[in-house]
Amino acid sequence: MLLRTEGIQKRFGGLVAVNDVSITVNKGEIFGIIGPNGAGKTTFLNCVSGFYTPEKGKVIFNDQDIKNLSPTQLCNKGIARTFQIVRSFPKLSALDNVKVAVIFGGKEKQNPEKRAKELMDFVSFPVSQDIIAENLNTMQLKRLELARALATNPQLLLLDEVAAGLTPAELPDFIDLIKRIRDWGVTIIVIEHVMKFIMESCDRIAVLNFGAKIAEGTVEEIKNNPKVMEAYLGEEHVH
Ligand SMILES: Nc1ncnc2c1ncn2[C@@H]1O[C@H](COP(=O)(O)OP(=O)(O)O)[C@@H](O)[C@H]1O
Ligand SMILES: [Mg+2]
Repeated sequence: MLLRTEGIQKRFGGLVAVNDVSITVNKGEIFGIIGPNGAGKTTFLNCVSGFYTPEKGKVIFNDQDIKNLSPTQLCNKGIARTFQIVRSFPKLSALDNVKVAVIFGGKEKQNPEKRAKELMDFVSFPVSQDIIAENLNTMQLKRLELARALATNPQLLLLDEVAAGLTPAELPDFIDLIKRIRDWGVTIIVIEHVMKFIMESCDRIAVLNFGAKIAEGTVEEIKNNPKVMEAYLGEEHVH
């Protein structure tokens, strides 16, 4: 077990955005979190990454309660995250974006340029590493974002809707990359709306609805869970 949450709660005024959520993520897993829009997925991830402190419950990482630690402290302990809205330094080159992450978040102080290049190769960055970040397309930005997150040598990587905005043609390579990151020794939690991504990459899945966990299990178990279908039915009709 790498990460465990025990009954965590996060409210915004009268709204309970995350309600009594307990999950267990094992080392080496790709763990998916799904649920309709507004279900509390991003808020949950923010509780795990230290951006929010839950009012109730525990967040246990490597047998230590990390609930009151800051994002920077958690980064040093080995938790990295990406954002639903991709953030980069738009005026720097792609490579320099990663170099900054290596210098400020990584352990490789001797040769950050070499490390940054290795990471760009690892994520199969598809165009010149010298391109200025503001000129990158979505798929290129996603890979850059992953390289920057990996620069901090995480044990646990939190990905918020990384597949959003990718074309169906770009998806298989991206799923393959996520699996390679896992095989590299990084445990991964993914929030995702793209079901193909979830079904093909996740070992286990938790489903949130109105802030609460309504199911947890393998892909097969979740697919056949009537509560999950019910939660999604409303959404499916809308789309
Ligand atoms: N900073 C915030 N202030 C107030 N309400 C918020 C805030 N962030 C999220 N919420 C609300 O909390 C609920 C869960 O949001 P979120 O975690 O973003 O859901 P998801 O990522 O599953 O779409 C939503 O009702 C959302 O409007
Ligand atoms: Mg979200």
